[in-house]
Amino acid sequence: MPSEAEVRELYRAASVEPPLSEPESVADLFARLYAFALSSEDLSAVTAMEHGRLVAFAYGHPWSWSEQQDAWSAQLRERLGVVSQTLEGTHVLSLLARHPDATGTRLGARVLNAWLAGIDNSCVWLQTSDMKTPALRLYEQLGFVAIGHGPDAPNGMPGLVLYREAAARRAIGLRASMCDNLGRAAGVTIRDRARAPGRAQRKPTRGWIVRPPRTSRSGR
Ligand SMILES: CC(C)(COP(=O)(O)OP(=O)(O)OC[C@H]1O[C@@H](n2cnc3c(N)ncnc32)[C@H](O)[C@@H]1OP(=O)(O)O)[C@@H](O)C(=O)NCCC(=O)NCCS
Repeated sequence: MPSEAEVRELYRAASVEPPLSEPESVADLFARLYAFALSSEDLSAVTAMEHGRLVAFAYGHPWSWSEQQDAWSAQLRERLGVVSQTLEGTHVLSLLARHPDATGTRLGARVLNAWLAGIDNSCVWLQTSDMKTPALRLYEQLGFVAIGHGPDAPNGMPGLVLYREAAARRAIGLRASMCDNLGRAAGVTIRDRARAPGRAQRKPTRGWIVRPPRTSRSGR
């Protein structure tokens, strides 16, 4: 697993650029959250290294409301309302970033796809800014749909919560019926909630490595 400092530097470099243009304090925060998760969660992560440097990274962990006692999670639950039930037993994608030296190589997409494969393409969610970012475009291409808003994102606006059904369920067309309903949000009764292994079946921290393409600018 990469160190907290490596994750901080990668996210700082990726997020300081437009359209995110985030202050370094956001990278500090995400790096601290990563360090905390590393010590306390069953992480799965995918790294791409080039010349010993971290150039892309994705990590996440299983999500169970009973294990998420912090203020951020409480606000997420409150803002999502009944839709929050959908997240129980899924995975959260906590962070995705690709170094700007590798812009245009789809390395970030490859790392994300490897991470999704690593969790067996099971149900997954994430929170992102609702600005039109390359990240949002990528998530939509991969079948994520908006199900509501959560705590404020670094741009000060409520973050957009995106959800992706498990591959098998998407294949039989549940996405259109269920996720569209979820998108209509509050007041919806979730009858077809996804199930995932409980804590007893959870696996320890897992990591995979993606090899960056030779065209990455950092290789020059
Ligand atoms: C989301 C992310 C991982 C995607 O990485 P990637 O798959 O390697 O994406 P690429 O660099 O190949 O770019 C994909 C497309 O976005 C465009 N793009 C990439 N960076 C861009 C930028 N900063 N501004 C505008 N367009 C950009 C590329 O030109 C490309 O366009 P195309 O589809 O027309 O060819 C990466 O953009 C990133 O790290 N972003 C900052 C961090 C972030 O937003 N993380 C997610 C937070 S929830």
